[in-house]
Amino acid sequence: MKILVTGKGGREHALITALTESPGTHEIFAWPGSDAIFRTAQRTPVQGFAQLVPWMVEDGIDLCVAGDESLLVTGEGLANLCAKAGIPCWGPPKESAQLEASKEFAKHFLVRHGIPTAGFKAVATLEEARTAAAQVPVVLKFDGLAAGKGVSVCTTPEMVAEFLDTVFVQQAFGEGRMVVEECLSGPELSVFCSIVGGDYHLLTAARDYKRIYENDEGPNTGGMGAVASNDIVAPEVLSQIEREIIQPTVAGLQKDGLPYRGFLYFGLMLTQQGPKVIEYNCRFGDPECEAVMPLFGGDFARYVFEAAQNRLRPELLEFRDGWSVCLILASAEYPAGSRNGDVISGLESVEGARVYHCGTRLNAAGGFETSGGRVLAVVAQAVSREEAIAKASAAADRITFAGQQRRRDVGIMHFE
Ligand code: AMP
Ligand code: GLY
Repeated sequence: MKILVTGKGGREHALITALTESPGTHEIFAWPGSDAIFRTAQRTPVQGFAQLVPWMVEDGIDLCVAGDESLLVTGEGLANLCAKAGIPCWGPPKESAQLEASKEFAKHFLVRHGIPTAGFKAVATLEEARTAAAQVPVVLKFDGLAAGKGVSVCTTPEMVAEFLDTVFVQQAFGEGRMVVEECLSGPELSVFCSIVGGDYHLLTAARDYKRIYENDEGPNTGGMGAVASNDIVAPEVLSQIEREIIQPTVAGLQKDGLPYRGFLYFGLMLTQQGPKVIEYNCRFGDPECEAVMPLFGGDFARYVFEAAQNRLRPELLEFRDGWSVCLILASAEYPAGSRNGDVISGLESVEGARVYHCGTRLNAAGGFETSGGRVLAVVAQAVSREEAIAKASAAADRITFAGQQRRRDVGIMHFE
């Protein structure tokens, strides 16, 4: 099978690795890809998104797998273009990807279908936002894709003022509306499903560690690590999540005439009042994907190929028991910025763990150096969570670069 994966980060490196390790021989291509990804996947001659689907047609690509969300809502939408070209695509069409691309769209969807979520008000101007966010704590969300920077959990009036200034005065994310949300508390959980029309298949759940510092302190990041296991959530809580959140979401998509084929990621908070939806993402989580993929057995490539053609076949995928821990090594200055060009040492000495590249590039000396905020994901599995943490930590200790940032508490369940 010839498969094209879109994206260039650690999630895509993990997806490509899982596809490569699937039974059978497959030709895997990546776009835009990265130097590390191109050690496993092949390059394409594609220069820009406009050329991507025409190239897939010309080259006889059998399956397109959307890694990140951006292309799903670019132009006509990746999945929409693939559909026109007759290429199976794992990733939803543009109209359904609004669940991630627009916070306001998602909130209205949640309310319309009676799915538990934080109370909210949608606002269009600085004045409306000021009124709606008069009380703290409050959560402010820019209504659009903002590369993980569009949300501020404000605990002081100063934080509210600062974020409103960023959105409405500096217009750091461009023009747009905002959602002002009730602040919830409780452990977060990332639940993943494959959705094909009215059918869904629940995958191994995970938790990610969003803040830059230990004990969930400091600013939000793209994710500083993740832990995944079939045991991460009690069966009765998972049943409640299925009943109150997943099933109404799948039914809601059907009712609203929103076609869906792809992973759907439910960002949940387990509050005292029960699980509530914080956000939907129309793709796998990053870094959760790096933690979850090594737990998959069976035939992932065939599973995705079938699902992308409306045949959801859960029997093609197995979920291994045990725990998987993913540690992110980030560059200096992250998350406010990132520092490129720091030489990475020790990659070849890693044992007992997988290393996925999130933001690296090859330098003139033929070694890898930092190129982005999140640099590497070091992932290990074991029967117990403690062992998985120890294995991943020992592997990560071998990798060094100037300015490296890493959380030492990934895998620890803070709320328990
Ligand atoms: P999002 O980009 O929507 O995932 O938000 C980023 C992070 O902000 C989430 O993972 C939560 O930690 C936090 N967050 C978002 N919405 C809320 C909320 N309503 N209450 C408390 N924390 C929130
Ligand atoms: N792990 C958070 C995200 O992928 O958005």
